Amino acid sequence: MKTFVSAAVAFGALLALTAPSVSQAADAANGKTLFRQQCGVCHLAGKGDGEGGQGPSLVGIVGRKPASDPNFGSYTQAMMDAMAPWSEAVLTEFLANPQKMYPGTAMPIRVGPETDRADLAAYLATVKAAP
Ligand code: HEC
Repeated sequence: MKTFVSAAVAFGALLALTAPSVSQAADAANGKTLFRQQCGVCHLAGKGDGEGGQGPSLVGIVGRKPASDPNFGSYTQAMMDAMAPWSEAVLTEFLANPQKMYPGTAMPIRVGPETDRADLAAYLATVKAAP
């Protein structure tokens, strides 16, 4: 019985440690780390984030209209038809499932946790000028 109780207490402590803090404000610094891990291979944003290359530049994306990087020549019709300007809220929704929001888009990455998506959007809002 004693073993069971201490195991239950330990398990409870573990749950408390790993419980996601959903109410936490978006963390742009964490977003930068996530961007380097998941986006930099295809997209340019801040200095040192990656080379970009396969995707459009995301410099100044918050406030931009979709498909508005003049140097990216291969936007899909789906992206060119998109109307909503990029905001942090729109980015957070888009990243959950780009294909669902804009069927036919070539943007292949989904980001599961909502906090990660909000952190990425908060980071992108800070990237205003080309590195
Ligand atoms: C394997 C390459 C690749 C990766 C990795 C990738 N993307 Fe993309 N992304 C693209 C391509 C290609 C497009 C253009 C889509 C189209 O035209 O349909 C795009 C489009 C976008 C757009 C719209 C840009 C515009 O000019 O309107 C946003 C925003 C975006 N991606 C965010 C991200 C974020 C944030 C990540 C990381 C979580 C990411 N992408 C990871 C290839 C990628």
